[in-house]
Amino acid sequence: MDRSIKLNQLETLKKECKRFFTDIYHDTEKILVFGEGDVDSPLVLVGEAPGEQETIEQRPFVGKAGKNLDEFLEILKLDREDIYITNVVKFRPFKVNEKTGRLSNRPPTKEEVDLSRAWLMRELKIIGPKVVVSLGNTALKTLSGRRDIKIGHVHGKPFEIEIGDKEYRAMLFPLYHPASIIYRRELASVYREDLEALKVYVDKIICLGHKL
Ligand code: URA
Repeated sequence: MDRSIKLNQLETLKKECKRFFTDIYHDTEKILVFGEGDVDSPLVLVGEAPGEQETIEQRPFVGKAGKNLDEFLEILKLDREDIYITNVVKFRPFKVNEKTGRLSNRPPTKEEVDLSRAWLMRELKIIGPKVVVSLGNTALKTLSGRRDIKIGHVHGKPFEIEIGDKEYRAMLFPLYHPASIIYRRELASVYREDLEALKVYVDKIICLGHKL
């Protein structure tokens, strides 16, 4: 699909998505953070949901998460601008500390993920990647459509998924979420190996003629 058509379709998608969530959560305004990057990239990264800094800048994976992502991209020898980066949930899931009134991140609820899935699939259908990298369990479960699947079992092992319907398939490459490495240092070497495997996989795509 032509780049300008993709950009137009993404703009329409954003407006429809905004209207959808404004209707559903009419008592609390949700600031939506959409995907960004090269809409023609054969590689798309899908995270869980934006955090505080992402919501302020209205860009995915900035601030601390962006630093983790930079290290990730360094290993893959890719620039952020060359790929497309998005999240399953487009708004920040947060909880309020009763005592201090401060907000902190929380994992998205099943309802939030279920409401977000169709929007992610439409976004991916427009971009049309060959490989989708899921970062963490939420993206893995949402993209595979399998609630029982666990990142610990399938990390680093690509498998085919349907994007939205049976007509369009892509390869899903599951990775641990970069943030989980901070809390579970024992995963660092596994994560590194998975990234090296992803690099080989991505290089193969380039050899097959898909520009990255
Ligand atoms: N920031 C994002 O945009 N997504 C995540 O999954 C984590 C941090």
